[in-house]
Amino acid sequence: MAGAGLALSTQFAHAQSTLRAGADAQGIDIAVAVNDNLLQNDSTYRNTIATQFNSVTAENVMKMDAVEPSQGNFNFAPGDRLVQFAQQNDMSVHGHTLVWHNQSPNWIKNLSGSAMRQAMENHITTTMNHWEGDIAGWDVVNEVVDGGQLRNSFWLQAMGPDYIQWAFEAARAADPSADLYMNDYSIEGINSKSDKYYQMAQDLVSQGLLDGMGFQSHLILGQVPGNMEQNLQRFADLGLKVRITELDVRIQMPASQQELQQQAQDYQRVIDICTSIADCSGVTVWGLRDGDSWVPDVFSGYGAPLLYNDNYTTKPAYDAVLEALGGTPPDDDTTPPDDDTTPPDDDDTTPPPTGDGDCTAVIDVVNDWGSGWQGNVMITAGDSAVSGWTLNWTWPSGQSITSSWNADISSSGSSVTASDVGWNADIAAGQTMNAWGFVGSGSSASPQVTCTAG
Ligand code: XIL
Repeated sequence: MAGAGLALSTQFAHAQSTLRAGADAQGIDIAVAVNDNLLQNDSTYRNTIATQFNSVTAENVMKMDAVEPSQGNFNFAPGDRLVQFAQQNDMSVHGHTLVWHNQSPNWIKNLSGSAMRQAMENHITTTMNHWEGDIAGWDVVNEVVDGGQLRNSFWLQAMGPDYIQWAFEAARAADPSADLYMNDYSIEGINSKSDKYYQMAQDLVSQGLLDGMGFQSHLILGQVPGNMEQNLQRFADLGLKVRITELDVRIQMPASQQELQQQAQDYQRVIDICTSIADCSGVTVWGLRDGDSWVPDVFSGYGAPLLYNDNYTTKPAYDAVLEALGGTPPDDDTTPPDDDTTPPDDDDTTPPPTGDGDCTAVIDVVNDWGSGWQGNVMITAGDSAVSGWTLNWTWPSGQSITSSWNADISSSGSSVTASDVGWNADIAAGQTMNAWGFVGSGSSASPQVTCTAG
């Protein structure tokens, strides 16, 4: 700290202004599924990914139909392109995927059990050998459970239940330095499907064949499972890494401003879960911009599931991820993050705030690293809309705010006053806004907060 003149600019000294800087500071991957066409043809796409992410996954080009379209003929060129891009930009690569019932070539589906085993092992060995040392972790098997039992896929039908172990044995031998994962959807919470994986994980861990569990996390707005952290933790307690591998949060279209705020909270919650678990290796978002997402093609009527708008401006969910990673949006508390991207007709769907309403607020401790901590402040409007808010509280034991984002703060001794910065003044009746946040000194605390609307 050089001197008094720097006081204002060093107020944000802890802040990181890209996702990747935040993730690097947290020691996790923030990754994105990459579309090969865009990688080749769109320099804004490439630059955004290289700037914001420290890890990538191939959305399609490392799947079996792309890599081994006919038996014994391997096409590594598109995957090589991604690996090269990652290496040039100092990013890691998560491999997706070796054994899956979708996007597998037809030729393998017609083989007998023993011929299929040989072909599966050859695919794993050849693919992993090719990228040995370049790929940090592989989704060795993908979506092999359905409900509470093994999925009745062509793999299971031809080879029987041992094929999963055979796949892991081949993978371990092919690249001993790669982390080996199972990966699936709808296993974020504790349920019969995640229970089945838990059993399989215990078995594979006891044989030294499994290193990680991937939770795809194709989520519906407002539906982050309440026991997601507990669920991931039980896998971590087996000695595994856990990873959020395909995160998106889909919204029934058209998405309102309130829904985009809820989406931001959902993203933030998932990042918080990963940063709370020591062995969480990272979070991958399944695509960069809303228009790049697979969601509208597959979940009819849903969309807007990602962090970026199609013109590469960021959504509230981006700001929430950045904050959850300990960063702060570059425009900080003076500019609305994305007012210029709000479609004009959104005003029709968002009722204008009507008055001074009442409000409540809580300080949510989202991270505590011993020498400091991060608080996010959630404000809830009562029966009528809030248009402007002021919060007051008293620190219980000498805490102070070292940096903050999205609020005007003044402190006197242990008492603090915080108020909105304009663009986050309005909260619709009954809604909760993840309104602002701060980095605190001392031990974390959640003192009672008084919220005054108007
Ligand atoms: C999806 C891709 O996003 C699409 O482009 C492709 O057409 C189909 O596959 N679970 C997975 C991913 O493991 O590989 C899927 O990706 C999404 C669901």
